[in-house]
Amino acid sequence: MALFRKKNTPVEKASFDVLPNHLGIIMDGNGRWAKKRGLPRTAGHKEGAEVFRTIAKECAELGIKYVSFYAFSTENWKRSPEEVDAIMNLFKDYLLEAKRDFVKAGDNKIIFIGSREGMRQDLVELMDEAERDTASHNSTTIYLAINYGGRQEIVSAVNKLIAEGKTEITEDDISSELYTVPECDMIIRPSGEQRLSNFLLWQAAYSEFWYSDVLWPDFTVNDLHSALRAFEKRNRRFGG
Ligand code: FPP
Repeated sequence: MALFRKKNTPVEKASFDVLPNHLGIIMDGNGRWAKKRGLPRTAGHKEGAEVFRTIAKECAELGIKYVSFYAFSTENWKRSPEEVDAIMNLFKDYLLEAKRDFVKAGDNKIIFIGSREGMRQDLVELMDEAERDTASHNSTTIYLAINYGGRQEIVSAVNKLIAEGKTEITEDDISSELYTVPECDMIIRPSGEQRLSNFLLWQAAYSEFWYSDVLWPDFTVNDLHSALRAFEKRNRRFGG
């Protein structure tokens, strides 16, 4: 959809004194972006998927070690079957592309966080394959949150611990049974909303937040850099 992409936007060549070790991104505003243009919501998701590719690439180039993208929540199944199907097909396009190029050429690791339950079998197979094929890669880890809910992640961790026979549970026990996501240092949420929406509840305990009114399909590399500049200036005390 090159037609809608911001063309010739100069991109700041960036270097940062400090970067988040783990950055979380809530990709929000696709529906409103499409509505503003009189397009179906699915057009917003399609453009959003392109922006995901651009931003994931930039995060890797900057050397951010872990980036989590919130792509589909456990609550998003409430959307129309057409919209859910369109989003799932966009995942499939990405997974096929990953299988074709990225997995072999890249050194990024892909890990899907969320429940595989209820996901289409063709997608589950491609997700497993992408994880397997990138398992030995040791550059940026891209966590794609699909069918993900922070509460569901914590409950499932606790249930695993109960099944192991634990009668007393520590924070470390819970951390060890999550979807292996490290502590989150910063969360970016575009589209004007200022809420966490069940994303990385446990991992974001001491996360810095950065909001913007830009809708995700309009989000640029320069917007990412603005967020990271803000992160550089934050005084993190972790409650101390
Ligand atoms: C939230 O915006 C966005 C989603 C629920 C879907 C996000 C999916 C993508 C960006 C495509 C993912 C594809 C890949 C390859 C990762 P919204 O629809 O809630 O927007 P609104 O709040 O304006 O309605």
